[in-house]
Amino acid sequence: TASPFAQTAVDLGAHPDHMAKEIDEQPGVVADVLARVRHRTADGSTWVGLGLPPFDRLAVVACGTSLHAGQVIANTVRSLGGVPTDTVVASEVEHVVLGPGTLVLAISQSGETADVLRALDRLDDRHPVLALTNHVHSSLARRADAVLDCHAGPEVGVAATKSFTAQVVVGVTAVVSALVASGRLEPSRAVALVDDLARLPERMAAAAVVAADRVPLLAATVRDAPGFLFLGRGPGLPYAAEGALKVKELSYRWAEASPAGELKHGPLALVDDGTPVVVVDHGDPRLQSAIAEVRARGGFVVTIGGAGSDVPAVARPADATDLAWGRSVAPWGPIEAVVPLQMLARELALQLGCDVDKPHDRARSVTVR
Ligand code: G6P
Repeated sequence: TASPFAQTAVDLGAHPDHMAKEIDEQPGVVADVLARVRHRTADGSTWVGLGLPPFDRLAVVACGTSLHAGQVIANTVRSLGGVPTDTVVASEVEHVVLGPGTLVLAISQSGETADVLRALDRLDDRHPVLALTNHVHSSLARRADAVLDCHAGPEVGVAATKSFTAQVVVGVTAVVSALVASGRLEPSRAVALVDDLARLPERMAAAAVVAADRVPLLAATVRDAPGFLFLGRGPGLPYAAEGALKVKELSYRWAEASPAGELKHGPLALVDDGTPVVVVDHGDPRLQSAIAEVRARGGFVVTIGGAGSDVPAVARPADATDLAWGRSVAPWGPIEAVVPLQMLARELALQLGCDVDKPHDRARSVTVR
């Protein structure tokens, strides 16, 4: 079997680094994934072609960026189907009790992360395991009962970018399909949702254009900050967590993600004059009170997707730096928000003199426990 780490040489083309290339590839990756999972039936409607085994509960097991993709998938299952879900940090699996009828969704870009493989060893054999991975010949794929391929193509940059997006799109279309099959979701609603997903490549490309214009100056403004805060609510939260992880991995700066409502219970104490606070704004008006609290402390607010907010632009703080492109209300949240978050983390790292493709203490896959 070919090693999952065997990389054919990937031509950078006009891109300065693999991370830039892989960020730019995301609209194409999404279009490719959707072409595989959607098809037109004889009566002209679109439908999803991926199926999952029936399940009463879902437990997502993963680490790092894959865990954030799993949170998006779990949010989708919970909000569309009312199905109980757990998202389990792989190294913590022994502290979780999985009820009968639980499907385990193990997510790993590499399929070789030791914490994920060990988590599966520790789980009861009664639970079927579905792997979601970019390496269909990996140890995880061999261990699982069924495999979903992310179809992200080779990802060379150590920090996951397009594999995250592919995991999210493959995962949410698969669970939408499963919810319809189990009678928990109306087929017409599912078709409308998947049709909306078809506009994601366009929204990601538009987000990249806005971010390319604003990120260099923004990174220069915040690059000397010792730490960053990322806020979100509900479906926006996994993206805030992913934005913080990218800054940590690439720039070696403290970056904490918090639900906006938790701000007053601790994280606000970290906000001082000029503290960068990145808000993933998917249009929930309740985010505005968190923004106001940050502003009152002198924090520097960066809103990602702010144009979708219900608050009119004139009510916004004068120095807020919006990276806006529209509104997303889908159960999987503002997937396109990940593009400016990745671009901000990359630009920050470059301005700080870091190697974005090979951060010095990171490995493509952590195969030790
Ligand atoms: C390492 C990488 C992270 C990655 C995580 C999970 O910690 O540095 O970027 O998200 O492993 O990797 P996986 O291959 O299991 O998705």
